[in-house]
Amino acid sequence: MGDLTGKAVLVREDLNVPMKDGVVTDDTRLRAAVPTINELSGRGAKVLVLAHFGRPKGQPSLDMSLAQIAGPLSQVLGRPVRYIDWEGDKAAVAALQPGDVAVLENTRFFGGEEKNDPAVAERFAVLGDLYVNDAFSAAHRAHASTEAVAHILPAFAGRAMETELDALQKALGSPEHPVAAVVGGAKVSTKLDVLKHLVAKVDHLIIGGGMANTFLAARGVDVGKSLCEHDLKDTAEAILEAAEKANCTVHLPYDVVVAKEFAPNPPTRTVNVHEVAADEMILDVGPAAVEALADVLKTCRTLVWNGPMGAFETPPFDAATVALARTAAALTKEGSLVSVAGGGDTVAALNHAGVAGDFSFVSTAGGAFLEWMEGKELPGVKALMS
Ligand code: 3PG
Repeated sequence: MGDLTGKAVLVREDLNVPMKDGVVTDDTRLRAAVPTINELSGRGAKVLVLAHFGRPKGQPSLDMSLAQIAGPLSQVLGRPVRYIDWEGDKAAVAALQPGDVAVLENTRFFGGEEKNDPAVAERFAVLGDLYVNDAFSAAHRAHASTEAVAHILPAFAGRAMETELDALQKALGSPEHPVAAVVGGAKVSTKLDVLKHLVAKVDHLIIGGGMANTFLAARGVDVGKSLCEHDLKDTAEAILEAAEKANCTVHLPYDVVVAKEFAPNPPTRTVNVHEVAADEMILDVGPAAVEALADVLKTCRTLVWNGPMGAFETPPFDAATVALARTAAALTKEGSLVSVAGGGDTVAALNHAGVAGDFSFVSTAGGAFLEWMEGKELPGVKALMS
C-alpha cells in the first residue's frame, strides 16, 4: 500500500450491528473493525468507513442512519469518529486531517448500492485514493460498496477480512483431515446447498437440530409431531446417498429428547429415535448420541460448525449443543482440533455454552458464512483478487 500519509482510504466495514433502544446490543462487528481502522489511521491515512445498516432500500431514514454508530465505534476504537452524511461529503472529507477517522452515511441510502450500480461506486470512489474491504460478512453481496468500487480504486483486503479468509481456508480449503462438519438448525430447506457441498469435502457430517428429523423421516423413522419437511425426504435421501459415495459418514441422532409441548422445562423423555410417540416432538439430540459424537470429534483434526443441535434457546433443549460445543472447545484448547464456527444462531449458541472464545475462529458472518459453506465464490472477495 506504500506511504499512506494524507491518503484517503475508503474502508468497507460491516457495521450492521443489532441495536435496541439506541444501544448496540452486540459490538462484535465493531470490535472486528478495530485492527484495520487503527492501523490505517496510525499510518497517517484519512480513514473513511463505508458501511450499510439495515435494509433501507434507497430510502434514507433516521433509524437506519450510521450517525448512531459513530459513537459506539469511537468507543471501541478509543479515538474520535466523525460522521459524514451524503450532503456536503466532499467538503467534509477534504477537511479531514491525516489519522482522522470518519464514518460515511449508510451506503444503502443510495438505491443503486444494492444494484452494484457503477455510478454509485464512482460516487464512493471519488472520495478516496485507495479501497480496503474488511467486511467478509457483507462479501456475499455484489453491491457498489463491496464489488464495483473495488474495480475503480486500488483494492486491498483489510485485517479482519484476511483473518476470516485464512481461517476459512484452514477449515475447508486445505484442511487437515479427518474433517467434521456440524450442521444444525431448524430446516433442511435453508441448508440444502451447504449439505450437498459438504458431503464431498468432509469425512464426518453431523446433522442436528430440526433438520435432522427430515433425514430420520427419510430413513423411515416416525418423528411424531416433530418439525419435519416431509416434502424434502427424497432430497435428504439423495444427500445420504451422495455422502455414502463420497465416503462421508453421516451421523444422525439415535437417541433424542422429546416433549409434548415446546415450552421451557416441560416434562421430557429421552428415547431411542424409534420410540417417539405420535404426540411427541424431538427437541434435542440425546445424551448417548452426544457422547458418540464427542468420540467422533476426538478423532478429527478440523471442525466446521454451523447451526445448533437442538432448540437451544429453550431449556433444557440446549444440552446437546452445549455439551458438544464444550467438547470441541476442550479439544481445540488441547491443540488437537482446529475449530471454525459461523452463522448468527451458531455464535449465539456458542456464547450460550460459554465457549465462543475457545474456538480457533468464530466468524462474524451470517449469510456470507453459509454461502462460503455452499462453496460459492463471494463477489466481494473475488473483486479483491482481480
Ligand atoms: C449481515 O448482517 O449478515 C450482513 O451485514 C449483510 O446484511 P444483509 O443480509 O442485509 O445484506
